[in-house]
Amino acid sequence: MELSPGLNEALNQQILMEMHNQLVYMQISSHFEDLQLKNLAKYFEEQAKQEGEHAYKFMNYVNDRAGGKVSLGTVNMEALSFSTLEEVAKKYILAEEETTQSIEEIYDLAFFEKSYIDLGFIQEMLIEQVEEEDAAQNFGANLLGTNDIVLFDKEMG
Ligand SMILES: [Fe+2]
Ligand SMILES: [Fe+2]
Repeated sequence: MELSPGLNEALNQQILMEMHNQLVYMQISSHFEDLQLKNLAKYFEEQAKQEGEHAYKFMNYVNDRAGGKVSLGTVNMEALSFSTLEEVAKKYILAEEETTQSIEEIYDLAFFEKSYIDLGFIQEMLIEQVEEEDAAQNFGANLLGTNDIVLFDKEMG
């Protein structure tokens, strides 16, 4: 059964969302670089790389699926600047929560269209979000709980 146009479009949008997340984490990484917090910078560089991998997973899936066609538009990246650690933590958690919601909507669509062949892959990407959200929540709690960011950064090394 061929990939439906609706699901194809939703998956293409998801590729762009993962690319957007990659840019968000690159920006956060650079923020920490500016502050000479090298391990925090490295942590977000790693997160950014993972978002790139997610984008490729969605891309490869669309390419593998019968009738699937990758068509990429513009990534809507907002200008970001951070003045507090809380803002960084909030952005990180929000990005992961919105990603989960977006993939859940794709799951919903596949289910509604009875495109059961796609549920496995979408679920696999959702299961990955359990870890992603957990990491973001954990990180946020630890970051906000610290009163010495330089020491916090050192301990991450
Ligand atoms: Fe992701
Ligand atoms: Fe993520």
